Amino acid sequence: MNVGILTGGGDCPGLNAVIRAVVRKGILKYGYAILGVYEGWKGLINEDLVKPLSLGDVSGILHRGGTILRSSRTNPFKVENGVELIKSNLGRYNINALIAVGGEDTLGVAGRLHDEGVKVVGVPKTIDNDVVGTERTFGFDTAVNIATEAIDRVHTTAEAHNRVMVVEVMGRYAGWIAVESGIAGGADIVLIPEKETYVSEVCELIKRRHDRGKDFSIVVVAEGSKLKSERNAEEEEVLQDKKLDAFGHVRLGGIGTKLAELIEAGTGYETRAIILGYIQRGGTPTAFDRVLATRFGVHAIDYVRQGKFGNMVALQSTKIVSFPLSKVVGQTKTVDPELVETAEVFFG
Ligand code: F6P
Repeated sequence: MNVGILTGGGDCPGLNAVIRAVVRKGILKYGYAILGVYEGWKGLINEDLVKPLSLGDVSGILHRGGTILRSSRTNPFKVENGVELIKSNLGRYNINALIAVGGEDTLGVAGRLHDEGVKVVGVPKTIDNDVVGTERTFGFDTAVNIATEAIDRVHTTAEAHNRVMVVEVMGRYAGWIAVESGIAGGADIVLIPEKETYVSEVCELIKRRHDRGKDFSIVVVAEGSKLKSERNAEEEEVLQDKKLDAFGHVRLGGIGTKLAELIEAGTGYETRAIILGYIQRGGTPTAFDRVLATRFGVHAIDYVRQGKFGNMVALQSTKIVSFPLSKVVGQTKTVDPELVETAEVFFG
């Protein structure tokens, strides 16, 4: 039996732990050959991007960020004959089953390929933690820890200079990183994509806090947040550029800078912004993410063995369970309102 594995979408701490687990259990327990498919779905469309993975190839990678298989945002359904090419390459390399590690886009493609007869198992990953069906995706815990450390660090400048500091974190459609790092870092306001916020409300909360004798504030904003202002009642999403990727997403980023300008204008307090960006996805995964990614990898190769194709591995209340890929497509797991309410207790 030959099993292919690919990583698609944005990189994420823990991907190498999944690859290592699949290779170790696949070879040593089941006697499979594991084939690395490089650069996401592109690896099954272009030439020369499929290579066998040995035990040696996955040695020493558990703690490393990124992915030894590299990644891309290639969407085979947007490439001419993409699906046919994938099928013929799976045949050419004699890949009998495929493990696709990715977020909603990659898993969505996996689900559609399964409908086309490809034997595929999914593994959910994303620092955004927004894949439905799983309580956690690996990478999220690392991102929250990085963002929390950044909030802790900007606290010193905020206090020393009597400033408002705006920290922009990732989160395209869901504010998980913002809410959890905001709670952990003691943010005074958190803005998330799930909830439209008027700039005037933010300014009022900051003024209320300063009226209580505080001289600084920390604002955490998710990159996909919707800001509203009285001057422009329309929702505004701050985009970096208008170009769409193969899955139809625009590049976000910059809402923090915009918000800082509006806060300074609305409150009179000196305000600065910091955009954490890819730092949140980079470097070594936390122990939690290494363990979760390892468990996902081990269960994914088990699902191949058991023929549980068309499913992804998922975490539900400490157990790894299967979840149908067909239910992942086009869905977003937004932040639990209870968590938002907890964060709000500390606003202003
Ligand atoms: O999907 C995860 C994510 O980190 C989002 O939060 C972010 O908007 C996006 O990836 C950016 O990815 P890239 O610039 O690599 O396409």
